[in-house]
Amino acid sequence: SPEFRSALSQTFTHSIRKNEDGEKYFYVATVVDHGSKIFGVLLLAAPFDTLMAPTYRIMRSMMIIALLLVVFTVVEGWLGSIYISQPLVRLSQVAKQLSQGDLSARSELEGPIETIHLSHTLNEMAARLEISLNSLRAFVANASHELRTPLTTIKLQVGVLRSAIEDDPEAAAHFLDQIDSEIDRLTFTVNDMLDLSQIEGGGGTLNLQPVNLADLSGEVLAFWDVRSRQAGLSLSMNVESELPNVRGDHYQLRRLFDNLLENAIKNTPSGGQIDILLKKTPTPRVRIEFRDSGIGIAPEHLPHLFDRFYRIDPRPVSDSGRAAPSGSGLGLAIARSITLSHGGQIGVNSQLGLGSTFWVELQPI
Ligand SMILES: Nc1ncnc2c1ncn2[C@@H]1O[C@H](COP(=O)(O)OP(=O)(O)OP(=O)(O)O)[C@@H](O)[C@H]1O
Ligand SMILES: [Mg+2]
Repeated sequence: SPEFRSALSQTFTHSIRKNEDGEKYFYVATVVDHGSKIFGVLLLAAPFDTLMAPTYRIMRSMMIIALLLVVFTVVEGWLGSIYISQPLVRLSQVAKQLSQGDLSARSELEGPIETIHLSHTLNEMAARLEISLNSLRAFVANASHELRTPLTTIKLQVGVLRSAIEDDPEAAAHFLDQIDSEIDRLTFTVNDMLDLSQIEGGGGTLNLQPVNLADLSGEVLAFWDVRSRQAGLSLSMNVESELPNVRGDHYQLRRLFDNLLENAIKNTPSGGQIDILLKKTPTPRVRIEFRDSGIGIAPEHLPHLFDRFYRIDPRPVSDSGRAAPSGSGLGLAIARSITLSHGGQIGVNSQLGLGSTFWVELQPI
């Protein structure tokens, strides 16, 4: 056989071939020797299929396992994609609705935990967006109303002025005065609106530095002294000892105190008393109170007092029959924004007819 000859030349050989009957066999041949002496050649032959049967079995099992793995992976991927992608598709639909302006759209909390988190965050964002957009709408509506009223008045007065200018110069001068004061009022309102949007938009960054509130209150008191005396009011200040400084924007805090003191003066009849008190709270915070013995505020107004444009009995009518100049109703909204931008709190205690106490609490350094 060929293995016999091959073994003689190479000492070991193997091959797979068909025998005379056409059956596939595995042959191994090796030379049997000792030193240089050759005893013979050992030739082994075995039917190939019998020899390979265990290997075939293992290969078959492995193929079945591989096939099962493929099927499993496909099914798992398919189920997973339904479980994960369906909620994501719905989530993206909600995001689309939101982006198209439907801010009431909310996402279902479904699917795997990550998708639930995502839905939750999206819903929160939508809710916040809805609130701020509504307050923006209310602001624009209020602002337009506030601006339209004096503009209408001015328009009317200009009309009257036109016809009066030749026949009655005195009446004409009177209307010019009125127009002038309406324009002043408009200018105040617009300035307040701009300031408020700047404070609330964080546009005017705070110039933070240590502020001594006793010094600041002294400044405010000195500034309003003449005006309060003219109004027949007595103004006093009481500062607790060792009051800590606060970190704040001097200009903004001055503005906050000005607004509160101006309100106290405006709403306290002649003969009244206004006190500024500065003290520490156990929290520990620094508390500033503006106490007046004025007209007080009815309970139903208290929740709205710090809203923009909110005024009580907005424009008392004077003897001349026209509305007396009054504030824009932005003073307390500005006071609130300044306090919040400093991380503080603002509030009021009041009883109708007995006076009001507006207070502000700020974080000490
Ligand atoms: N100390 C107070 N006593 C009684 N009522 C007050 C007092 N402070 C404020 N108010 C009421 O709250 C309303 C809102 O005050 P706010 O300062 O926001 O507006 P305003 O004083 O009318 O106008 P502005 O401050 O913009 O000139 C006032 O119209 C007033 O009726
Ligand atoms: Mg005011």
